[in-house]
Amino acid sequence: MTPGQQSIVLIGMMGAGKSSVGRCLQRKTGLVCFDTDEIVSARFGVSIPDIFSKFGEEAFRQAETAALAELDPVVPAIVVTGGGVVLREENRQHLKRLGVVVWLEAEASTLLERASRRGNRPLLQTEDPSRTISEMLQNRRPLYTEVADVRVNTTNCSHEEVADTVLASMNGRSSI
Ligand code: S3P
Repeated sequence: MTPGQQSIVLIGMMGAGKSSVGRCLQRKTGLVCFDTDEIVSARFGVSIPDIFSKFGEEAFRQAETAALAELDPVVPAIVVTGGGVVLREENRQHLKRLGVVVWLEAEASTLLERASRRGNRPLLQTEDPSRTISEMLQNRRPLYTEVADVRVNTTNCSHEEVADTVLASMNGRSSI
């Protein structure tokens, strides 16, 4: 570990590209990558949609908080989070402790288009997903704003370009 090196913590709505950008950042920095959705899914032994349908959202949120709390601020890493991680105050506090928090942003229409591609977002299984995502974004925007150190607009950008912008924004913040 290089002295002063900090973790890069990716937050933002579903469809923001957190997982793909996280993989690019992992490749570019050589840091380990932790994805809270993957940790939770591995713990339950089933997919995220199955956790929601079998155990409910609250069980998912508990496991998400536990997975996040186990991440150590001393170990520099790329941390990929689920879109709802900011909903809990304790999570927001821990995100800030973990490292530089980067909010990957996009318009609601872009988020919906990207998040609908694989049909694996349980919270979008509603009558009107467009309205759902707009309302979600409206509710969460203040929470993302509260924890973000850096905001990156991902509209019309490739994952590689977003990763490069994230790394450029780290200049002066850490030795990454
Ligand atoms: C959620 C986003 C998902 C996943 C879960 C809940 C949310 O992660 O954690 O379905 O509340 O926005 P992604 O942001 O990776 O889609």
